[in-house]
Amino acid sequence: MMRVLFVTAEATPFAQTGGLGEVCGSLPKALAQLGCEVRLLLPAYGSIKARYPALRRVRPLTAPGLPPDSALLALPLAPGLELWLVDAPALFDRPGGLYSDDAGREWHDNPLRFAAFAQAAAALAQAADWRPDVVHCHDWQTGLTPALLAGQSPRPATVFTIHNLAFRGLCDRATFEQLQLPRDWWDWQKLEFHGQCAFIKGGLVFADRLSTVSPGYAEEIKTADFGYGLDGLLRQRAGELQGILNGIDQTVWDPATDPHLRAPYHAGDLAGRAINKAAVQESFGLALRPEACLLGVVSRLTDQKGIDLLLAALRDPATADLQCAILGSGEPWLEDAVRALVADFPGRIGARFGYDTALSHLVYGGIDAFAMPSRFEPCGLSQFYSLRYGAVPVVRHTGGLADSVHEGPTGNGLVFHPPFVGDLLAALVRLKACWQDQTAWRALQARGMAQDFSWARSAEAYLALYRSRLPPEVPSHALTHA
Ligand code: ADP
Ligand code: GLC
Repeated sequence: MMRVLFVTAEATPFAQTGGLGEVCGSLPKALAQLGCEVRLLLPAYGSIKARYPALRRVRPLTAPGLPPDSALLALPLAPGLELWLVDAPALFDRPGGLYSDDAGREWHDNPLRFAAFAQAAAALAQAADWRPDVVHCHDWQTGLTPALLAGQSPRPATVFTIHNLAFRGLCDRATFEQLQLPRDWWDWQKLEFHGQCAFIKGGLVFADRLSTVSPGYAEEIKTADFGYGLDGLLRQRAGELQGILNGIDQTVWDPATDPHLRAPYHAGDLAGRAINKAAVQESFGLALRPEACLLGVVSRLTDQKGIDLLLAALRDPATADLQCAILGSGEPWLEDAVRALVADFPGRIGARFGYDTALSHLVYGGIDAFAMPSRFEPCGLSQFYSLRYGAVPVVRHTGGLADSVHEGPTGNGLVFHPPFVGDLLAALVRLKACWQDQTAWRALQARGMAQDFSWARSAEAYLALYRSRLPPEVPSHALTHA
């Protein structure tokens, strides 16, 4: 049985700010179902400790950067799956978000917090009581763990997954000096990156295997346009880099049983959608027009997501008969732009700000089409939820969107290529034409709803990736537990 230490700063339902959390919540379950023994390791954010009183204190934890009162907490989740938390109250138990305070200002000590977390993960990976075969790390917050393990012998295999290369975990030299890391890591071939330290390089340089969350993004990040200055390194490591498309938890995301919908429904009977659509129109202050094509957005409001393109397209007279419900939170300039659009088109454009999972389910279950005009998108999960809920996705051809949404006679959505307003506008015009032919629309919807986005296939691909690092002739346990 393969033992996997799964190291992440976010995992649903414990702590999340977006897709990273959803993937790290659902992939460990799928791996456990495939027979892996998985320990899901997170920082013990105060909000988790408050909600899960059954957490058990296992033992004290010591590692560089961890305060002396630190401990390992545990909670069994499912057969083969246990939650592990690094409890260091001074670092992780504070009001506010995972990375920032209530006012949205990043915690000044984030580098120290996540260096300590990465050190704890490396210490746990080498502890005598439970030795993993593989340590699987995710994004910059965990980037130092593969670097810390690289020099150890024997040691588990390390896998680093890139969910978003735009977040590199940068800090300055003075902060780097406080991290208790080897001084020679301040080197462009290690952690140094244009005069700063980039945590993500710990994963990109030192992990045995690299993966990212779609085959398309795996190609894109090897180019200067998408590589954030790391494309050269990724080209160098291309032989060890693989794209594996994300899956979704189809038990949580199931329109037939979703408790957040006003009316559940399934592919064979979509009657409930009309009721959900009216509920969305009502909660977003839109006119109750069943015949209007209702577009939706559930998104972080950032430059990445291309929401500004959509706002511009919705001002064009060609889209005057489309309604749009926007659920999002993010950069103030984009929130202001959304507010301005709502003010200019009352009853036609509606918005709700904040992170509201329950409302997001209702949106997917009530809108007719989902807009995702991302400038880049490592994978994206919203398009999967939309397809499963019968909301036709309108996406830009990039990363995981290009891998999962296709336009054409056997397609499942609408796709535009260059990230320009005119190209999105043309796609929205094609969407309207499709909406006017309700027979074609139903067929398009049905093709999306019939697709399988469960983790089954992708979890197998991760397992194969783990195994690719272990000598095939030796049973995996013989490596570390002999
Ligand atoms: P990213 O992780 O880049 O934000 P993904 O598409 O992978 O993009 O995942 C985003 C997830 O976060 C989706 O499940 C989406 O429904 C959810 N989400 C984004 N914004 C909100 C919001 N304001 N309220 C509720 N859920 C949201
Ligand atoms: C990141 C990406 C998103 C991806 C998610 C989960 O947040 O922006 O595209 O779906 O990670 O892998």
